[in-house]
Amino acid sequence: MYKSLIVVITLLLASGHAGAQMAADGRVGSGSKAHEWNVPTPEKLKALTLPGDVEAGRQDYQAYCQACHLPNAAGNPDGSIPRLAGQHTTVIIKQLADIRSGLRANPTMYPFAGKLADAQALADVAAYLGTLCVPRDSAQYQGPDAARLIAYGKVLYDKQCVQCHQPNGDGVKEKLYPLIAGQHYQYLLRQMLEIRNGQRGNSHPDMIRAIAGYNDAQLLAIAAYQATLSTQARSWASTPRFCEAS
Ligand code: HEC
Ligand code: HEC
Repeated sequence: MYKSLIVVITLLLASGHAGAQMAADGRVGSGSKAHEWNVPTPEKLKALTLPGDVEAGRQDYQAYCQACHLPNAAGNPDGSIPRLAGQHTTVIIKQLADIRSGLRANPTMYPFAGKLADAQALADVAAYLGTLCVPRDSAQYQGPDAARLIAYGKVLYDKQCVQCHQPNGDGVKEKLYPLIAGQHYQYLLRQMLEIRNGQRGNSHPDMIRAIAGYNDAQLLAIAAYQATLSTQARSWASTPRFCEAS
């Protein structure tokens, strides 16, 4: 009990200055528009503290996940299925726990997310995904105006997104900020639209505030830029680990 309280506090602190506004049940914001970002469900808290068993995670992944996310966890370039390879273990656990508890809507995946037995299985599959390198060939924006859009997207990204998602798109493991480098362009765009439009229930309130002012064309530009982050030069030893350039 005492230990789980410490974890709750750590999670609250991890949410940055929004933490001050966050009640113990994880609700953020004021009045009826209260928004749930990181509801500290017992399963999530437990999974975040358990060491994952990579081999057990591999077996579950192959049985329940790879049919959609693919054996190398590269997802689908058309953006329908996200890339999971190399994502921070904390982010995988948070998203899985949120999907399992219905905080993040994901009807396609719901029956499969439910196959994972318990908090230990969440930690295991996250540990396994963390061992996979991030492929560098994420789907890019292909329009004729790509160069202009990517440059514009960088200006917007550097203004309000970089402090959490980092200049190289690596996110922050301890704060549950996702790695976005290596993600497919269309998946990034769809998630941004859903987060801005309030359709993805579990998003960080500061992120919602940051993204609220952007129109669809601007989000498209940001997604086009973010998708290029996987192609930046990186050392083999960087964390998360990127696959060697082919
Ligand atoms: C039937 C296909 C399907 C199966 C099987 C499936 N997923 Fe998914 N998964 C999806 C889709 C589709 C999304 C994206 C949903 C959205 O657009 O919000 C997703 C999203 C995710 C996310 C969120 C990623 C992010 O970047 O936000 C995680 C984590 C995830 N899946 C893990 C798993 C794991 C682990 C398993 C196996 C236990 C699994 N999935 C099985 C289809 C599937
Ligand atoms: C306060 C930190 C913060 C800021 C600022 C922020 N984000 Fe996020 N972002 C997050 C978190 C945390 C998530 C995961 C949401 C969740 O908990 O489900 C996320 C998710 C995302 C995703 C979906 C990733 C995935 O794998 O599903 C995209 C794309 C994204 N952010 C882009 C942006 C853009 C563009 C901006 C700037 C306009 C921005 N973010 C600003 C913290 C932040």
